[in-house]
Amino acid sequence: MIIAIDGFSSCGKSTLAKALAQFYDFIFIDTGAMYRAVALYFLRHEVDLENQVAIKEALENIHLQLDNQDGNALTYLNGEDVSKEIRQRKVADIVSDVAKIDLVRTKMVEYQRKMSKDKSVVMDGRDIGTVVFPEADVKFFVTATIEERSKRRFLELKQKGIMMEIHEVQQNLLKRDHIDSTRKNSPLKRAVDAFLIDNTYLSQEEQLDLARKVIEDRARVDN
Ligand code: DC
Repeated sequence: MIIAIDGFSSCGKSTLAKALAQFYDFIFIDTGAMYRAVALYFLRHEVDLENQVAIKEALENIHLQLDNQDGNALTYLNGEDVSKEIRQRKVADIVSDVAKIDLVRTKMVEYQRKMSKDKSVVMDGRDIGTVVFPEADVKFFVTATIEERSKRRFLELKQKGIMMEIHEVQQNLLKRDHIDSTRKNSPLKRAVDAFLIDNTYLSQEEQLDLARKVIEDRARVDN
């Protein structure tokens, strides 16, 4: 079974995906973390985002692994745990430009399909219901107001010891939303058959209950 969750940056996609994966004992795949790990590699190796040959070569040297330990989603880049580093500002600043590159998207989509083969997964991202798994069993498109999303991201970063002004957080989110939804390759958009969840005024529990109801209703219809 595939549950696809797409939506804007910092709107609670991963929180919902993790909770659903835990509830149903499915595998959680955070595809944003994969694009972030690629962006980190490009930063470290000063890969020119205009140079297709350099990008292709770099991608051949990138091996990603996702793992879940005690409820924490971990991301490994060539065997190194980069889960914390990929959340830093330097990565957030370039990741949307990296995620626009066709070669990068092709490799990530291939990875994502392979990781899900013969498994039940909850996958969150921007193009899961539209491109990676257009046949997903259940699709959600999650959203919240920009004020609420900025506040949540600000608190999340603060908790991780990363200090940023709230207006800087908001600017970064708006910039990424714009790049993600206007790029040519697989832009962020709601799949026609995705269930819309605006969680601005929902608690995490309420959001989980709503999503479970949708999944269980769907399963009843299918049986
Ligand atoms: O979900 P996130 O903020 O960690 O995602 C990081 C970036 O990766 C974001 O700018 C959008 C991009 N992304 C994407 O293009 N496709 C996905 N499936 C997941 C993320």
